[in-house]
Amino acid sequence: MTSPGAFALDGGRPVRYICPVDPGELLDLLKGRTGFTEAHAALLRELGQVMAPIAPEVALAFYDYLGRDPELSEILHAVPGRVERLYGTFAHWYGELFSGTYDRAYAERRRRIGLVHARLGIGPRAMIPAMGIVQELSLEHLRTALRGPEVFSAVEAFEKIVAVEIGLIEESYLEALALGFALGHRDLRRALAEGAAALLAPPHPGPGRGPG
Ligand code: HEM
Repeated sequence: MTSPGAFALDGGRPVRYICPVDPGELLDLLKGRTGFTEAHAALLRELGQVMAPIAPEVALAFYDYLGRDPELSEILHAVPGRVERLYGTFAHWYGELFSGTYDRAYAERRRRIGLVHARLGIGPRAMIPAMGIVQELSLEHLRTALRGPEVFSAVEAFEKIVAVEIGLIEESYLEALALGFALGHRDLRRALAEGAAALLAPPHPGPGRGPG
């Protein structure tokens, strides 16, 4: 199984890099392991009516939480305008949790999100608690928006998609790390960041397809 465009360097020469798991296959595996069905997808789409409108509110609370952590706050403010841009990208991601469509393209977008964070050195110790905050904020809203017993099936569907999200993102970290080591980096953080940077780089042009 290979990942489109992924490569490694062998003595300075680019070669195809074998991706540990194809995103589409990984998605199917995670759906099976979490018991995520089409019924859960349909329910999440329905929940989108009450959840998608609160995306900007969740984004505000989320970055407020990250901003209170000195290490994470430094990353957020390292580039002018970054936090402001992130409000939008995060809100979009949040809306997609309730899109009802969880296909290969979705899995590839999640892989990319993992790699973008890995390249910045934002590892699982930051991502997993952050995902916990997203759950906390969302469950609070679900509890107030749905007052009847339907809240139980809503929480079940939501928890399953969050588990799938975490699985997809964390596997992309492993992919980055493996490539970082293959590229010769021995320091864990460096291997993670450099492996992710290589995976995010546009594919190397094949022989005879370069400029000139
Ligand atoms: C639930 C966890 C998180 C989600 C869902 C999330 C979501 C996203 C998304 C969708 C992007 C855009 C990715 C792209 O360019 O394709 C992004 C980028 C980014 N995120 Fe996160 N994020 C999470 C956790 C964190 C944490 C813990 C930090 C710590 C500081 C962080 C900092 C950043 C930064 C710095 C960028 C790059 C912004 C840029 O383009 O300059 N994120 N995030």
